[in-house]
Amino acid sequence: MNHAAYHKPVLLQEAIRYLVHEPDGMYLDATLGGGGHSAHILDHLSEKGHLYAIDQDEDAIRHCRKRFNEETRITVIKGNFGYMDILLPKEVDGELDGVLFDLGVSSHQLDEPRRGFSFRSDGPLDMRMGDLQMQKASDVINNCEYDALRDLIYRYGEERMGSRIARAIVQARPVETTLELRDAIASVVPSRHLNKSLARVFQAVRIHVNDELTMLRQAVEKGTGMLNTEGRIVAITYHSLEDRICKNYFRYGNFEGKPVRDFYGNPVRPLKPLFSKIVVPSESEMADNPRARSARLRVAVRLEDQPGGFSPENRGNSLRAGGASC
Ligand SMILES: C[S@@+](CC[C@H](N)C(=O)[O-])C[C@H]1O[C@@H](n2cnc3c(N)ncnc32)[C@H](O)[C@@H]1O
Repeated sequence: MNHAAYHKPVLLQEAIRYLVHEPDGMYLDATLGGGGHSAHILDHLSEKGHLYAIDQDEDAIRHCRKRFNEETRITVIKGNFGYMDILLPKEVDGELDGVLFDLGVSSHQLDEPRRGFSFRSDGPLDMRMGDLQMQKASDVINNCEYDALRDLIYRYGEERMGSRIARAIVQARPVETTLELRDAIASVVPSRHLNKSLARVFQAVRIHVNDELTMLRQAVEKGTGMLNTEGRIVAITYHSLEDRICKNYFRYGNFEGKPVRDFYGNPVRPLKPLFSKIVVPSESEMADNPRARSARLRVAVRLEDQPGGFSPENRGNSLRAGGASC
């Protein structure tokens, strides 16, 4: 498969311009996918530079091992970015010049019916991105209590018709395929809202199955701890839940968005946003690639350790390990 057919990278020039500030440096692409961003990072690195690249999806790993077969400056690693501290060699810790997150699913995952991510084609309700996930989407859809199903649709899909949709799903059980789920939702949502509701419910189930927000919080915290001073963290997000996590952590060093100050009133935080604006795709990129429409890019720079501040030893410890249940 050609690389653009696997996935067309979003905000490619912008992401790499902000990420790669030291051509001899060491970088992490935490969401390798089809390797579009990774290839561009490599174009900006010298012979001394090195790129580590993680994905939890076997298809992505297989595709990129072939794509970068001849390239010695990249190490491709299969695993969940929430465990990057275990996946990367010890000597990388505290030495990374940049970490990139291009979140969500790849076009390949969406376009492959057997993966069950899309309501546009018929396939088994799976939606697992990697090997860590114990439950498939069909387990969640068929086994969650009505209340739990309704709450996850509200929380992860931000869908206002969550109660009526959850009730329709419970009535339609067993629901085993993407089109059966689509039909259950279509039975209670007016047709003018249907596509948006379908996208939100499928997103909600996917986030739950892959425990995406827990893994993202864990990875942002660990990635920050692995950066050297002046190292950069670049995040491309596709919905407000992901964006809020990055915005709060980049500004305040916590996920609640609470400023923490020292005795003298100075902010205590591990990162500082490189700029306050959000970078969004150009009109022409959005016209060319509909997936880019909801993308937002944020960048933050690692600050020196402050007394009583962020401690790399504590990173990620406030969060439970992955594995969502109803
Ligand atoms: C939007 S795609 C990345 C596309 C890539 N930047 C490119 O240019 O081809 C997101 C990728 O991140 C991977 N991913 C999402 N969450 C992950 C996690 N927690 N750990 C590892 N990989 C993850 C997905 O499997 C998917 O391949």
